[in-house]
Amino acid sequence: MVLACIWGYLGVNFFMFLRFFFPRTLFQPNTRFNIGYPSDFSYGVNQQFLQSNRVWVRKDPGSLFVIHAKCTHLGCTPDWEPTQHIFHCPCHGSEYDINGINFAGPAPRPMDRCWIAMQADGTIECDKARLFLDEPFAGIDQFNDPHAILSI
Ligand code: FES
Repeated sequence: MVLACIWGYLGVNFFMFLRFFFPRTLFQPNTRFNIGYPSDFSYGVNQQFLQSNRVWVRKDPGSLFVIHAKCTHLGCTPDWEPTQHIFHCPCHGSEYDINGINFAGPAPRPMDRCWIAMQADGTIECDKARLFLDEPFAGIDQFNDPHAILSI
């Protein structure tokens, strides 16, 4: 009985020793990614990167920006409603216009925009870790800052 306890104790400790070599890391996709050429996108809202990177690419004649697909209420992913030209959040009903500006529901501010930059080869690099905010009540308006929007 005593021998079984000792072996059990040593076995558990050996298991903990082995576990040390497999840390509990969380692997997340890179926040920085390339979305390709401006000509790859049609005018309006483009959803090519919604599943993989949780962003929409919004293109107009002369400009392009990237919207972070995260509701500013509690963080759900809104749906793009192409027939109505709005984003609708299924969680609590917030609505945003085609530029991600909130106009209905509990969302307190527009959806954030991601950092973007034109690369030497003409493609666009995007970084979701650097966001631009529009927070009217706090007097913050970063939507026209460099890298929040590109002239194309
Ligand atoms: S999380 Fe979008 S409305 Fe609440």
